[in-house]
Amino acid sequence: MANFIRRPDWFIPESQVTPEAVYHNRREFLTAMGFVGATALVENALEAATAKDNLALYPGKETAYKVAVKQTPEEWAIGYNNFYEFHTRKELVSHPQIIGKFLTEPWRLRIDGMVEKPWVGDAQDLIAQMGKKGVIEQRVYRFRCVEAWSMICPWTGFSLSKVLELVEPKKSAKFVRFETFFDPRMAPGFQALRGYPWPYTEGLRIDEAAHELAFVATGMYGKPLPRQNGAPLRMVVPWKYGYKSIKSIVRIEFTDKQPKTLWESLAPDEYPFESNVNPAVPHPRWSQATERRLGTDERVATIKYNGYSAQVAALYK
Ligand code: MTE
Repeated sequence: MANFIRRPDWFIPESQVTPEAVYHNRREFLTAMGFVGATALVENALEAATAKDNLALYPGKETAYKVAVKQTPEEWAIGYNNFYEFHTRKELVSHPQIIGKFLTEPWRLRIDGMVEKPWVGDAQDLIAQMGKKGVIEQRVYRFRCVEAWSMICPWTGFSLSKVLELVEPKKSAKFVRFETFFDPRMAPGFQALRGYPWPYTEGLRIDEAAHELAFVATGMYGKPLPRQNGAPLRMVVPWKYGYKSIKSIVRIEFTDKQPKTLWESLAPDEYPFESNVNPAVPHPRWSQATERRLGTDERVATIKYNGYSAQVAALYK
């Protein structure tokens, strides 16, 4: 993706960011003061689950979502990443010097906006809650980056529709906006790409969000997500270009306005809001007709909606 050097007026300097220690101590403080029970009133379902408690939920129950083609070797999927908060070089994102300061536990997640029942709590509590409902699954999906590489991997998680059931969007909600963490102390890319309109944001129409295929991934290859792949939880929207699959989410907001996404703000002609995989529509700077499978030299034809036409084409009639 292109390098854009621009610094909007509203760029938040590092000095204004909540110190990490304050953020991380909050939960310990509440627990020590015996407030965890009391805050459940405000902070829905603060179950105080940890990633360790949730390990038993992996890999999740097998579902019909499988791909007949060979899976991408795990080392490629976890060693070749787009995560601009850390580094623009895909091979470097997972390097301990780059990802090493990224703490994904505790992880405060907010699901709010135009909903009947806002949910605020730790990401692991949401995962535990979904575990209790028995909705944690493993799905093998095709994943196609706009840069014309692709992978096939097993994800663990739950359908985003389960989140909609949980918070009950109001009739007025027409879109869902997703937001990634913003903490320059944990990720060097914020400093390196100062002009970007951080935090990384993405969005879906509400009917896309409600679609069975839109998936909240908490793991891959049978284990919790590695940090470089978007721990503790991320979106996987398999019929859209990879940048719609936002990582390390801190907020899911239901809104009546189409959200501005990071990539759309930088280059609207190249990264429009909808961004469904379509081999017939070239990116302004390259063809989208074929893709390279990660870990191979193989080039294969790209399929409309990334092969999920039967499921999603009706959304775009
Ligand atoms: N989410 C955040 N927060 N930051 C990013 O830079 N990159 C996107 C997407 N989600 C990105 C992100 C792009 S361009 C792709 S292709 C996928 O993450 C890559 O996911 P992977 O590294 O797990 O393969």
